[in-house]
Amino acid sequence: MSMRKTRKAEHIDLAIQYNEQTKSEPWSDVRLVHHSLPELAYEQVDLSTLIANRNWPVPLYINAMTGGIQEAAHINRSLAEVAKKHGLAIAVGSQSAALSDPKVSDTYRIVREIMEDGVVLANVGANVAVDDALRAVDMLKADYLQLHLNFPQEIVMPEGDRDFRGVAQNIQRVVDASPVPVIVKEVGFGMSMEVYQSLADAGVRVVDVSGRGGTNFAWVESRRRKDKTSLFDDWGQTTAISLLEGQAFLERMQFLGSGGIRTALDMAKAISLGASAIGVAGPVLRLLYRGGKEAVETQVMTWLNGLRSVMLALGATSMRELQSVPVVVTGETRDWAELRGID
Ligand code: FNR
Repeated sequence: MSMRKTRKAEHIDLAIQYNEQTKSEPWSDVRLVHHSLPELAYEQVDLSTLIANRNWPVPLYINAMTGGIQEAAHINRSLAEVAKKHGLAIAVGSQSAALSDPKVSDTYRIVREIMEDGVVLANVGANVAVDDALRAVDMLKADYLQLHLNFPQEIVMPEGDRDFRGVAQNIQRVVDASPVPVIVKEVGFGMSMEVYQSLADAGVRVVDVSGRGGTNFAWVESRRRKDKTSLFDDWGQTTAISLLEGQAFLERMQFLGSGGIRTALDMAKAISLGASAIGVAGPVLRLLYRGGKEAVETQVMTWLNGLRSVMLALGATSMRELQSVPVVVTGETRDWAELRGID
């Protein structure tokens, strides 16, 4: 097995372990205001959402995880089957393995085969060469291209990148060349208004904040080397804070909420802070390994029905209405927002 293959298999095992042992960061600092007179019926609640002008039937997607090894093909196939059945979008894991070794591209392509005309997101690192970014999109006939930013993870890996110069400029080149909308995403460390500004300047219109609070890749990487802790175990902005940091950009950018989202209530809270759709990664992987495809499917239905129920309790019939319900932010999250000058 090559180094990359071993690493991928270990990522899967450790991410499952992490999601089994560690509770996600609570969303208790964010409270929605109950509405006793919602004046609407369950059937009126519409979950569809527009992402860069394309309609998604539900505001939920399975976020980027894997590809490139046989085990990944099985994961991608099973998750795509659930996504297809319930109208979710789905991202593949980083396609760099297939860009350097086309023989493994089937482990990613399986997702497009199963999704047929459903929404599929390609995924590469933000420092990718423009040609490779285009090949990644073409490989999947992807509807969007995710560019990931994972610098703490690289730093923790001895074999990881150490030179992060020129990334914003590279993103701009990819945005200019890409035939599909580009989504810049974190991998669990969140983002800030300074980063949104740079991304807006680079022409990016959709950002996946992927904040702290869920699967933690600094933890995964350090445990892979049997270290007990890493400098970045508690690093970054939570998903709630990352969305608050984006408030001044809501006219120009769309935000996708991911990182530590575990319940329908978390989903509703993230949407009320401005997210247009919600991504989940680690928990679906854990469910697939522990309970099979059926367990993932049951969870997806629980999330979607739960989201409808919360919307009913808030009197919100659409994503747009849910994005503008009153929300109360307390505790450390509020302190952060105040100190950063966020209204
Ligand atoms: C990831 N994630 C990820 N992200 C990315 O952009 N490219 C990738 O290749 C991977 N690989 C990957 C593997 C595994 C096993 C996991 C669990 C996650 C990060 C993922 O998309 C997401 O941003 C974080 O996991 C946070 O979301 P959750 O897990 O808290 O829902």
